[in-house]
Amino acid sequence: MITAYEFINNKRRGLEHTAADIEWFVKEYVNGAIPDYQAAAWLMAVCFNGMTDCETCTLTMAMARSGDMFNPSLGKFCVDKHSTGGVGDKVTLFAAPVCASCGVYVPKMSGRGLGHTGGTIDKLESIPGFKTALDYDKFISVIKEAGFAVAGQTGTLVPADKKLYALRDATATVESIPLICSSIMSKKLATGADGIVLDVKVGSGAFMKNEESAEELARAMLRVAELAGKKCTAVLTDMDKPLGRTVGNSIEVVEAIEALKGNSPEDFRDIAYRISAELLGLAGYGTPEKCFEAVEEAVTSGRALDAFRKMIELQGGDPRVCDDYSLMGKAKYSMEIFAEKDGYINGIACEETGVCALLLGAGRRTKEDSIDMTAGIKLDVTVGDKVNKGDRIAVLYTSGNSDMQEIADRFSKAFSYCDNSVIKRKNVIKILRNS
Ligand code: URA
Repeated sequence: MITAYEFINNKRRGLEHTAADIEWFVKEYVNGAIPDYQAAAWLMAVCFNGMTDCETCTLTMAMARSGDMFNPSLGKFCVDKHSTGGVGDKVTLFAAPVCASCGVYVPKMSGRGLGHTGGTIDKLESIPGFKTALDYDKFISVIKEAGFAVAGQTGTLVPADKKLYALRDATATVESIPLICSSIMSKKLATGADGIVLDVKVGSGAFMKNEESAEELARAMLRVAELAGKKCTAVLTDMDKPLGRTVGNSIEVVEAIEALKGNSPEDFRDIAYRISAELLGLAGYGTPEKCFEAVEEAVTSGRALDAFRKMIELQGGDPRVCDDYSLMGKAKYSMEIFAEKDGYINGIACEETGVCALLLGAGRRTKEDSIDMTAGIKLDVTVGDKVNKGDRIAVLYTSGNSDMQEIADRFSKAFSYCDNSVIKRKNVIKILRNS
């Protein structure tokens, strides 16, 4: 029998916890016997002293088992994807219907926006009538009919992560590899997919700022997946600039629909097609090249868009949005941003873009805030583009009371310029597989 004090002290001194102690900690924290201040002290000790692979796996499994273990017995191989969080990341809205249209089920439980990063659930709720609170039976029936469903995480799924994540967010203990790994993988294991693709973001807009730390996180998550008997692939992708040309909610849904119609900017195409192909690969679709061709075919044939329409309809939304974007509403106000000098766009500060979108109303400043679905940022340019002073480079949108001029001044500074052409970063940086 250990006390919370001894548990914290062991990690502070850099000792390795036993499996029994970790399981005890998770159980007692979730049932309220260990207070937040003791859990916070332990989290900080983990940030400084880390955890072994064995500790990380035990923590992940204990967290996964802290609530319902979802087991969609759908009779088919199911895949799931998870992004470590980014700006303008609408990949799920593309990849899930593509897989569904290729006959691979995607039971997707997604989150809301977090800090400067957006959330799939918020984006989808910009579609009139769309419901993300689905009970189990409805979730399963939508998957069976449309091939995929996207629901908000229920309160009974991984309550340990719910509590620990909120505490980490408030105590500067988010950026720790074993803690991020256990947070993400506990949710993936509890939702019961057979194969998982992890989109590990790298760059200034991501939790992992460089390739080394992103690869370390990816390898930790692959090890946990392997021990849990899940096929898993980690794709390291660039998050040094916003993904695609839009950041917001309805504006991102429109960009995703356009991508399903075959129109996407290069960075989004590279990443979304590769992740979709990796998901198909886990489901036994064949070589990476064959999977990639299947993704292209799902788009050009219109089948992926049909799957998206079907899912919208089954989840209570208006599928006509796929053809008439005005049904998602229009922002009351807009403001154009112009290039401040001649030259090449050298960078678009990613986190700053996310924060400006949030200030326009696209995200929450506090947990209780509601979202302005029409708010966001449309980029006319990307890194490497040549511009002349005075060219329009972006448009800001809001329907709220935000001080647009102040946000515009701030956002203008997110762009950096240089005189010579820019060597672009790779969109897909590396792929790591455990199978
Ligand atoms: N996403 C999560 O779900 N958890 C983390 O800790 C970080 C990103």
